[in-house]
Amino acid sequence: MQIPNDLRFRTREAYSEAYKKSMENPEEFWGAVAEKFKWHKKWDRVLEWDFEKPEVKWFQGGKLNITENCLDRHLEQHGEKTAIIWEPNNPKDQTLHISYKELHQRVTQFANVLKQNGIEKGDRVCIYMPMIPELAVAMLACARIGAIHAIVFAGFSVKAIAKRINNAGCKMLITANGNYRGKKYIDLKGICDEALKETPSIKTVIVYKHGDKDFQMKEGRDKFWRDEVNKAKTECAAQIMDAEDPLFILHTSGSTGTPKGMVHTIGGYMIGTTYTFQNVFQPDPNDVYWCTADIGWITGHSYIIYGPLSAGATTLMFEGIPSYPDYGRFWEIVEKNKITHFYTAPTAIRSLATQSLDYVKAHDLSSLKVLGSVGEPINEEAWHWYNENIGKKNCPIVDTWWQTETGAIMISTMAGINQPKPRFATLPLPGVQPVLMDDNGKEIKYTGKKVRGRLAIKFPWPSMARTIWDNHERYKKVYFTEFKGKYSSGDGAYIDEEGDYRITGRVDDVIIVSGHNLETAPVENAINEHPKVSESAIVGFPHKIKGKALYAYVILYSKEDASEELKKEIKELVSKLQGPIAKPDKIQFVTDLPKTRSAKIMRRILRKIAAGETQDFGDTSTLVNPEVVKEIADHAL
Ligand code: PRX
Repeated sequence: MQIPNDLRFRTREAYSEAYKKSMENPEEFWGAVAEKFKWHKKWDRVLEWDFEKPEVKWFQGGKLNITENCLDRHLEQHGEKTAIIWEPNNPKDQTLHISYKELHQRVTQFANVLKQNGIEKGDRVCIYMPMIPELAVAMLACARIGAIHAIVFAGFSVKAIAKRINNAGCKMLITANGNYRGKKYIDLKGICDEALKETPSIKTVIVYKHGDKDFQMKEGRDKFWRDEVNKAKTECAAQIMDAEDPLFILHTSGSTGTPKGMVHTIGGYMIGTTYTFQNVFQPDPNDVYWCTADIGWITGHSYIIYGPLSAGATTLMFEGIPSYPDYGRFWEIVEKNKITHFYTAPTAIRSLATQSLDYVKAHDLSSLKVLGSVGEPINEEAWHWYNENIGKKNCPIVDTWWQTETGAIMISTMAGINQPKPRFATLPLPGVQPVLMDDNGKEIKYTGKKVRGRLAIKFPWPSMARTIWDNHERYKKVYFTEFKGKYSSGDGAYIDEEGDYRITGRVDDVIIVSGHNLETAPVENAINEHPKVSESAIVGFPHKIKGKALYAYVILYSKEDASEELKKEIKELVSKLQGPIAKPDKIQFVTDLPKTRSAKIMRRILRKIAAGETQDFGDTSTLVNPEVVKEIADHAL
């Protein structure tokens, strides 16, 4: 199997050929991809797997360090190339350009800081930082010495951090005194100090001073980033790691219950993120790529840091928010940095689409070549708005389906390879073997007619999470028991007549109304078909007769449109598209929905409100918009 040096299949024919080969002999395929990376010792075996146990091992016996792939291997030819462009929260502050050479030097020096503070291979380090270059440096420095990073999104609460630190048993915490988000300042160090009261495993806290706000330092425990760096040597040889050693733990935001600490391992994750980055986005060497996610979630890990850097790309990190100083901020950054690839989430697109187009028109977006979407199914209106106003109908939209658990993109449009289609993630990448399953757990054979089922994966892929930290049983139960011998994604999907996949959303969001199982996604899609509706969420609430009835929370493009008449229209529309059983009993117009960082609607809260409970919502700090909860509860029907 021939794999191009830059891993890119550039045409539909090359894609089809690679796909076929990857199905016939997955080990040969992935082995050929892995050859394109820097290894200290080649693997003995490409793959060993058993989905019953479950246990998956890729490239066993292979020795490497991911930072040599992300940094060292680019130095000779591209040392001066910009690795990271940093855009600050305040546009008046200076944009930074950090070359591969400089990033390498900062990472190796900070790796020595970790060592001089007693961090060794296998130790866990919690990172709770704003979107500043030091966050990238800290994570890569961990990888340099074989420490396992556990990044916690810098908007999470005291309880959320403490829970994650304790779950992972972290020895060190790396943080900053504060986080600037638009006009807001978040006192990160103050939050950490509270959390640290409950985290006995933390021995050292490294604090990066970001801005000039006051904060406390605790003697003996807290150390300044700068002081430690000044003491550290700059040279640090990479720790030689096994391909299957853990690279990081990332706790899924968890819309219910205890967060799951997904464990990703070095070799497979590196290969998966780099290979998908190249094939989905198809970046050329001088392109400038921007993913707007936060590094606190998997999209940031895979597609701001590891994938792009390993591919030798220029990746932009943005500290701020899309609405500050105004809603033109994203477009201003695109223009200023001549961004070629722009990757964001449907929720961001929808919120920008509700603003005046003048914010977009004020900027020259002609550098853009490819647009991306991730995190949830993108609705048709948002897709067209993105295509017409941002891409000027000239940029393919790559709709990328994947999960924290999959580590890398699995099903996606690939720029220039296949045709984008609104709402469709389209095709599996070569090496990925999805299947649809029926309700009885049987594989649905695709014969060219449209089929619908639950999305599972029947063969391992290198970047899959290997376990849940300290809870392998839970890993098995959540992902490998629903369908025997297969990975269950928890999502529903269609394959249409052209063989394209459309992901419809989580299937665990099911409500039983009068004995009928109703999935929330199709009902929400039906509501969203109304031209005045921007977004909606459906939950069940107790009903004397039906058992459960549907309660719809609906966001309108224009608040002024809210009326009883419109509620009637929405009910009729749902009834027409999904049948009378799916008609919501109650419709509440809201300005926003409570969402986690990865754009998951926090249905637990909406269910409570629908059931008439308007207090005690538990920890809402994992939400991007906790303030909306009270607003919705105050106007509950
Ligand atoms: O339901 C799918 C949805 O997001 C889930 C994964 O969420 P998370 O682990 O937070 O990772 C988000 C970033 C990868 C999936 O199970 N999802 C993600 N991307 C898409 C999507 N649904 C439809 N289309 C997508 N492109």
